Amino acid sequence: MVQTVPVRRPTNEAPVLLRAQDVTKYYGQDGNRILVLDRITLDLRAGEFVALLGPSGSGKSTLLRILAGLIPPSSGRVLLHGQPLQGVNPNVAMVFQSFALYPWLTVLQNVELGLLHKHLPEAERRARALAIIDLIGLDGFEHAYPRELSGGMKQRVGFARALVGEPEILFMDEPFSALDVLVAENLRHELLDLWLARKIPTQAILMVTHNIDEAVSMADRLLIFSANPGRIRVELPGLPVAERLAKGEAHAQLVDTIYRIMTNPHEDITALLPQARVLQTAEVPTYQMLPHVSIGELTGFIERLAALGGREDLYELARELQLEVDELLPLVEAADLLDFVEVLEGDVTLTPVGSAFAEADVLEKKAIFRRQALDRIELIREIVTALRSLPRHRLAEEPFIQRLEETFSPVEARRQLDTAIDWGRYAELFAYDDHAGILYLEQNGDAEATH
Ligand SMILES: Nc1ncnc2c1ncn2[C@@H]1O[C@H](COP(=O)(O)OP(=O)(O)O)[C@@H](O)[C@H]1O
Ligand SMILES: [Mg+2]
Repeated sequence: MVQTVPVRRPTNEAPVLLRAQDVTKYYGQDGNRILVLDRITLDLRAGEFVALLGPSGSGKSTLLRILAGLIPPSSGRVLLHGQPLQGVNPNVAMVFQSFALYPWLTVLQNVELGLLHKHLPEAERRARALAIIDLIGLDGFEHAYPRELSGGMKQRVGFARALVGEPEILFMDEPFSALDVLVAENLRHELLDLWLARKIPTQAILMVTHNIDEAVSMADRLLIFSANPGRIRVELPGLPVAERLAKGEAHAQLVDTIYRIMTNPHEDITALLPQARVLQTAEVPTYQMLPHVSIGELTGFIERLAALGGREDLYELARELQLEVDELLPLVEAADLLDFVEVLEGDVTLTPVGSAFAEADVLEKKAIFRRQALDRIELIREIVTALRSLPRHRLAEEPFIQRLEETFSPVEARRQLDTAIDWGRYAELFAYDDHAGILYLEQNGDAEATH
């Protein structure tokens, strides 16, 4: 294997290329506004590779779109080389998780699109596109169409199109998430090599990911987002390049620590990582958000944890269950919301209620879940309280949707209610007529018995 010569050494004195200053973003209008990003301030300096980590829905993609000048912030500013950004950011090119290729264009034509705004003579455009196609390992595929390519090759086209214009800044939004594990690993390595050995003139990279291992393997600096609304919770220095590539003990430890931070909003970060900068200290007002986890998944998770002795390191647990962190986190969150587990110092531990749930038979499980859901899940409690207060114990879902849309986007509001309905039905706390969109108590059922 070719040894990479790490020549990049980012410093705090390097010039700031791009700055987000108090960037706040609302989606929706007036009475129905959703705060997605809350006063984000960050600098991207020459020479650095920054990773943004955070749960799904925390506004990471929105922030990239704002910094790329594709959408405006609601308040705050974006500065490019100290000047307020007007319109699309000319110094940024973006790589997307979904590749975003034009199916009716060949590889070469897709790559040339990255030069369209430069208005070059055709011959030069072609020459540059062919050069980057060569560099990025697409040689021989110039005239293929996207449908003829594997996922990994499609994303190479995504990279080639972004890099062909020699952008000063490269944005990547979960660029490896859609790829098979080995393909992703290979592409990550090649990109790092291009970057570290300066085979591309790009000055800075900003990558969004929910893959902690990936962020630790690549970035000089890591920013961890919290959700609802999106805020930068903590900033950490990455590993020195040699340790990043070696994937040794330091790597495993940093991954582990970040797991702990991300799965536990109350963890004392400064005790874990003295070099971290905690940007969000005080208890911030957040709202309860249900992870979209089915009862089957949750039950399976709790039972596996019980089989493993009731306590497991999060990192081990993810490996054991063969889950990515973004698949594990919603399960842990749901279990934590219901008080089935406790997350402390990187370990997930079953609570007594969680253990009882794991061991219970089908009916007892329902009863335990019913108590916990009623006690801990605000939306379910709200629905049950409303239904019990009504003479006919029936209610259209619409008011709940409207109330949820004060906090969530319409799509997320619907998903929140769907999850609450799924959980509430399992618990037999209420029933739901999905044709009419009506929630109701079953007059003779267990629902009444829980008074
Ligand atoms: N165009 C839009 N209109 C309304 N809501 C949106 C829009 N785009 C994203 N959202 C909402 O904003 C929140 C943040 O989304 P996003 O930036 O995609 O998060 P992430 O990339 O961290 O997963 C989510 O709740 C999402 O549903
Ligand atoms: Mg996103």
